[in-house]
Amino acid sequence: MVTDLPESVPRHVAIIMDGNGRWAEERHRPRLFGHKAGVDSVREVVRTAREIGISVLTLYAFSTENWNRPSGEVRGLMTLLKNYLQAELRTMLQNDIQLRCLGEQAKLPMDVNQILEQTIAETRACRSMVLNLALSYGGRNELVHAVQAIVRKCQEGRLDWRAVSESTINEHLFTAGLPDPDLLIRTGGEHRLSNFLLWQASYTELYFTDTRWPDFKRNDFLHAIHIYHHRQRRYGRTGAQVAGSKEQ
Ligand code: IPE
Ligand code: IPE
Ligand code: MG
Repeated sequence: MVTDLPESVPRHVAIIMDGNGRWAEERHRPRLFGHKAGVDSVREVVRTAREIGISVLTLYAFSTENWNRPSGEVRGLMTLLKNYLQAELRTMLQNDIQLRCLGEQAKLPMDVNQILEQTIAETRACRSMVLNLALSYGGRNELVHAVQAIVRKCQEGRLDWRAVSESTINEHLFTAGLPDPDLLIRTGGEHRLSNFLLWQASYTELYFTDTRWPDFKRNDFLHAIHIYHHRQRRYGRTGAQVAGSKEQ
């Protein structure tokens, strides 16, 4: 039984799962050992998110810049991803979790892409939570894609440039149809976005922790949500205005 559920949960939580490599190095083990240990945290956080009623969980698993890592590490990460997807399909279906992917999917190795496509298709009807994996994802790259698609529509006469609005941009991002993240967690001690959800995170609450991703478990996740709950989201207004609108 769950006894420590947070007061209210954010709709969309995004996580920069950082610190695997250092976690391993601190234990005098190869970096891939840290990535493997990180998969257990993914399982635990996904389970907890579903249990407490989060609608969308976005996990930054591989950035456009991560392609520049040593090829052995990239290969190891791709294998872990493939194994994770293969192992988790049943759990996703049992828990009514829909898998989605954001990023340049075509750049992923063919076998990874195949299992990804298959998992996305098989979980399409699941409605209780969206698990969004950011793979070969970069916020700037996403914006370039969006601008290209919008310009093409304008050139083909399907869109009037004067009608281009914030919603138009939203609709052309990989996250089209999803709410902006309410809470963004970064583990591993760095205080930066590293090209993650640059457009979508404009009013997201940020939570940084030194805890390395393989050590980030259920209680750490619940703690981050608890901290979020005590933030006041003002969107440019005054604290009094926000408090007043809550009373009405
Ligand atoms: C995050 O951990 C996982 C990926 C970027 C794929 P890191 O591998 O970046 O771990 P550190 O930051 O080197 O400790
Ligand atoms: C961000 O972590 C990307 C992921 C967690 C997938 P990095 O470790 O790649 O970020 P930087 O290079 O330290 O900014
Ligand atoms: Mg890192």
